[in-house]
Amino acid sequence: MLNWDNEPAAKPAVPVDGGAASPVAATAAGLNTGTGNRIRAADKRIINGETDVNQLVPFKYKWAWEKYLATCANHWMPQEINMSRDIALWKDPNGLTEDERRIVKRNLGFFVTADSLAANNIVLGTYRHITAPECRQFLLRQAFEEAIHTHAYQYIVESLDLDESEIFNAYHEVASIRNKDEFLIPFIDQISHPDFKTGTVENDQKLLESLIVFACLMEGLFFYVGFTQILALGRQNKMTGAAEQYMYILRDESMHCNFGIDLINTIKLENPHLWTEEFREKIRKLFVQAVELEYAYAEDTMPRGVLGLNASMFKSYLRFIANRRCQQIGLEPLYPHEENPFPWMAEMIDLKKERNFFETRVIEYQTGGALSWD
Ligand SMILES: [Fe+2]
Ligand SMILES: [Fe+2]
Repeated sequence: MLNWDNEPAAKPAVPVDGGAASPVAATAAGLNTGTGNRIRAADKRIINGETDVNQLVPFKYKWAWEKYLATCANHWMPQEINMSRDIALWKDPNGLTEDERRIVKRNLGFFVTADSLAANNIVLGTYRHITAPECRQFLLRQAFEEAIHTHAYQYIVESLDLDESEIFNAYHEVASIRNKDEFLIPFIDQISHPDFKTGTVENDQKLLESLIVFACLMEGLFFYVGFTQILALGRQNKMTGAAEQYMYILRDESMHCNFGIDLINTIKLENPHLWTEEFREKIRKLFVQAVELEYAYAEDTMPRGVLGLNASMFKSYLRFIANRRCQQIGLEPLYPHEENPFPWMAEMIDLKKERNFFETRVIEYQTGGALSWD
């Protein structure tokens, strides 16, 4: 059995008091404790909660706090990774084929803006609608990690001395990238609109839909063609610095994806009335659309076979991943009998911090500069 993630499947918390959440939305600052009574963990809710969001404890959603601690333990910075071999290879006219160069540029073209979209979605959208402070704590860390990822992609662009304007504008100018972003942007706009508030079935479903799109389809699917391509380069001892950056990013993203899935499943448990057949059908259609968009991206980035990969292998891979995401949120698999054509990717996803994969990075992590009191 392949293990796709860093840890076992989500075990959402169940409300202990069995009481229904009040449909009154908390304010973003969350000072509405109302009665003056001290907070009880049992009263906390992921959405539409009425407990004070400024009080982290008592914990109710321990899985969120544990994931927050785990992400902090995975801390890394892009400039720790030595890029000198990549720079030499990129400058060597015979270092890489044109198809390999196309993969690197398309990859960066998508990712240099993708993680900004992810960060903005959290900071401007998701964060204010989540009323459990331990989940907000994870989202704060996640937002910082998205900044680190954007930094890492920028650092690769700068190291290779690529045309910044070409790479950073790819999301306007390259159709296969633009189409993925145009799929995502309405979901950001919807929940980040100043007038958007949860507390109705319609809006709670919109928030849930947005969480599913970002965890399962953005971080859980749209990243995977790009990750596989760069890691395939690394496996052939090419662009090993970039590949190492991507390994760390992949580890972070699989944690974001797992957290998002726990969040989704807990919202479902607390609000079963949102999970209607009509809603599930809408989600299934989004999954199918996302698989098509990511497959079109695979075709565009690999017009021919390269690195032992070709676009049609990704058709199976994307369907395999989509099935996994469906199962993780309680939907039937969309594409029966799909196998994983890249079992080595599962090992990559299981990367532990201690492993110095391409031997370009010092293992000991320095968590900060020393303070001097003089
Ligand atoms: Fe990211
Ligand atoms: Fe992420």
